[in-house]
Amino acid sequence: MSVIRSVVRGVGSYLPERLVTNADLAAEVDTSDEWIVQRTGIRERHIAADGQMTSDLGVRAARSALADAGLEASDIDLIVLATSTPDQTFPATAATIQAELGITHGAAFDLQAVCSGFVFALSTADAHLRTGMFKRALVIGAETFSRILDWTDRGTCVLFGDGAGAVVLEGVAAEAAGARGVITSHLRTDGRHRTKLYVDGGPSSTQTVGHLRMEGREVFRHAVGMITDVIEDAFAATGESADTIQWFVPHQANRRIIDASAQKLQIAPGKVVTTVDRHGNTSAAYIKLALDVARKDGRIQDGDLVLLEAMGGGFTWASALVRW
Ligand code: UT7
Repeated sequence: MSVIRSVVRGVGSYLPERLVTNADLAAEVDTSDEWIVQRTGIRERHIAADGQMTSDLGVRAARSALADAGLEASDIDLIVLATSTPDQTFPATAATIQAELGITHGAAFDLQAVCSGFVFALSTADAHLRTGMFKRALVIGAETFSRILDWTDRGTCVLFGDGAGAVVLEGVAAEAAGARGVITSHLRTDGRHRTKLYVDGGPSSTQTVGHLRMEGREVFRHAVGMITDVIEDAFAATGESADTIQWFVPHQANRRIIDASAQKLQIAPGKVVTTVDRHGNTSAAYIKLALDVARKDGRIQDGDLVLLEAMGGGFTWASALVRW
């Protein structure tokens, strides 16, 4: 059986029109632009319009990734959607996206790993493509965190935003893929930390949707160590290093976490893609938003080695190395 690699064919994103600045938030809760910028690097975030759902954002991002890939929706036979804010408890929001795109074959499902969802979804799609079971996958991260925020809690409501990103992955015979494709991915979960970042509702507990709760300082305390560990695993598995990667596209939650992780790993500041100032923490959508920006502004070129990482509720954390 020939070896298959999952190659990135296209990337796209979508941010809702409504822009909320730090100053807008300071008019509603006891916070300031200065505090938010200094502690997180965030300047503004996008918030979905009334009635605009996670699937709507996901469809927009998917269409932009398909256009970037030069493919039709009918070319896709797998959709993996990373989200913690589905339209409904079930069916999977991926099924809605599939229907909106007019796809009637293959499979579509949601994956829940909170902020690490994109890397978990990429790894899951990669594993399916490499078996040959599917040919082309849409890996989507789409979130409407604005719906689960407690807008009176200044410790969390200033941090998150809505958005979606999508990547088209294609299973290609290794000889044709050359060096391109998903090189490695590493996924971790430690459920002992599940009460440090969670939503206080759900179908089988409260029968309500609930609100996001976070011990921010505790998350911060673990973040850099977990991120650097799982990246070191990716380097050890491949022989790559901070010197051989072209781009580091980290989870966009907090500028201080990004800078501290890059510094600990000795990744040159010029290789770090940071967009958190423009959209805040969009959970599973963030990496693809950042990837889309760096691809479209010409930073990420074909052949570049791109390092991805994420960390979030669970705790979950993950890394991936992708040769573009
Ligand atoms: O995907 C993973 C998702 N989450 C994260 O990555 C978040 C990780 N954590 C963080 O990013 C940071 O812990 C925060 C940005 C959430 C908070 O920054 P911090 O430097 O850890 O601040 P803190 O929680 O230690 O709070 C410092 C002070 C407190 O006041 P006192 O007790 O010192 O008087 C807070 O009440 O800042 C206060 N504070 C605020 N002040 C103005 C908390 N939130 C705000 C706010 N505006 N929005």
